[in-house]
Amino acid sequence: MENNRVLIADDELSVRRLLYEVARKAGYQPYLAENGLEALEKARELRPQVIILDLKMPVMDGMEAFSCIRSEQPDVAIILLTAHGSAETTVAAMKQGAFDFLTKPTNVAEVRSVLEQAFQTRHLSKTATANGLTDSTAGTTLIGKSAAIRAVYKAVGKVAPTSATVLLTGESGSGKEVFAKTIHENSPRANAPFIKVNCGALPEGLMESEFFGYEKGAFTGAVSRKPGRFELAQSGTLLLDEVGELTPFLQVKLLRVLQEKEFERVGGTQTIKADVRIIAATNRDLEDMVRRGAFREDLFYRLNVVPIYLPPLRERKEDIALFIDYFVRRFAAEANHEAPVIAPEAMEYLCNHSWPGNVRELANTLERSVIMSQGVIGLPDLLRADSEATPQYMTLALNGSLRDILHRAEKEVISRMLRAHEGNRLKTAQTLGISRRALFYKIDEYDLVASKFLEEENFEQG
Ligand SMILES: Nc1ncnc2c1ncn2[C@@H]1O[C@H](COP(=O)(O)OP(=O)(O)OP(=O)(O)O)[C@@H](O)[C@H]1O
Ligand SMILES: [Mg+2]
Repeated sequence: MENNRVLIADDELSVRRLLYEVARKAGYQPYLAENGLEALEKARELRPQVIILDLKMPVMDGMEAFSCIRSEQPDVAIILLTAHGSAETTVAAMKQGAFDFLTKPTNVAEVRSVLEQAFQTRHLSKTATANGLTDSTAGTTLIGKSAAIRAVYKAVGKVAPTSATVLLTGESGSGKEVFAKTIHENSPRANAPFIKVNCGALPEGLMESEFFGYEKGAFTGAVSRKPGRFELAQSGTLLLDEVGELTPFLQVKLLRVLQEKEFERVGGTQTIKADVRIIAATNRDLEDMVRRGAFREDLFYRLNVVPIYLPPLRERKEDIALFIDYFVRRFAAEANHEAPVIAPEAMEYLCNHSWPGNVRELANTLERSVIMSQGVIGLPDLLRADSEATPQYMTLALNGSLRDILHRAEKEVISRMLRAHEGNRLKTAQTLGISRRALFYKIDEYDLVASKFLEEENFEQG
């Protein structure tokens, strides 16, 4: 028998026919099954290299057939097919070692490409079956069905059962922390702590003790021993948030823990083993920082083992409506309100806005609108909610001289205010109480011109 057998299991005749034709035309040898039990039996008998398995089938459902086949034949590449592709099922299935996931209605090109990948990649997944069928994802509700976010679910599901270091990148508010938690919750470390540390939150010296803890008497004010974040995260997961803010000194310190998997408390001599899974997150372009010499290359490679990129909301507009539905219900429930209706113009605005602050900004806008609303959210309510949404707080790295810090603060304030006004410099200057000339000067000084939001500006010049 040739090595090109694909078993197709679906209870719908039309789907079976379509997949059969796609597989045959692509040069594979297709076989068919109509339910989960038949799929299991044929898988045993035919030993296909690839199986396409529908999740909702009679007699034995796809998920059950999937786990049986996975445990009997760990090398077969299984592609799951579902009309109900929720984030939870995707993450759970990828975690248990599915090769890929297709959501109905699917198309010929998509099926072809997944089939090709499945045959090419001599399936690598070995770990997952050993864990067997555990619970599906704990805690966090993940929203989104766009192709871009489904790619994230897949990556997360694949990496979660391992201890590999993950680097989460993406703009502010795009969900880096949410996915860091999802990885932890779906990992064998789920019952151990998930600890987060903001790498730019404190001056260098304090940051070091924040990471590694200190011994009594290590410095003035160290009246008792204190454990650091690495120690608190023992056996669990440590999220190094805003990792691009690390100073060169701390980069060296961190590199050492990652390499040696051990550290000492500040002022201490005892070496402590660090059994910690590292997830790093940043909205900065670390590769560019490496090129500019602002981030150590060796540290970058230690962190960038499995990179996962969270696309900005404007690149997955299909998800906006799902987020709206979810947030409106949630905020209404929290405020003991009836969930308001969203007027069509308001909906149109929400779905087409560029959301520079991503999911967080959308959530904030909706929260304000829901609280203010009386039954209906109209466009004026949204615009009011938005104009009141002057940035309330920001995180600021406290390393460097006062002058440096103030510079960063000024840059941040101006860039945020420009975004809040969608690049309109006149309004930005007015809100900040400076002249337009002064604003132009600062935009130039801080090199803000290249930013995305300014390319999109559409207002009068001068
Ligand atoms: N896919 C998602 N499903 C549900 N909620 C989400 C999703 N993505 C983001 N959120 C929500 O959006 C908000 C921002 O997400 P998060 O804090 O993870 O962003 P971030 O990328 O870490 O941002 P920053 O760079 O500013 O720290 C949170 O309230 C989070 O719950
Ligand atoms: Mg974050």
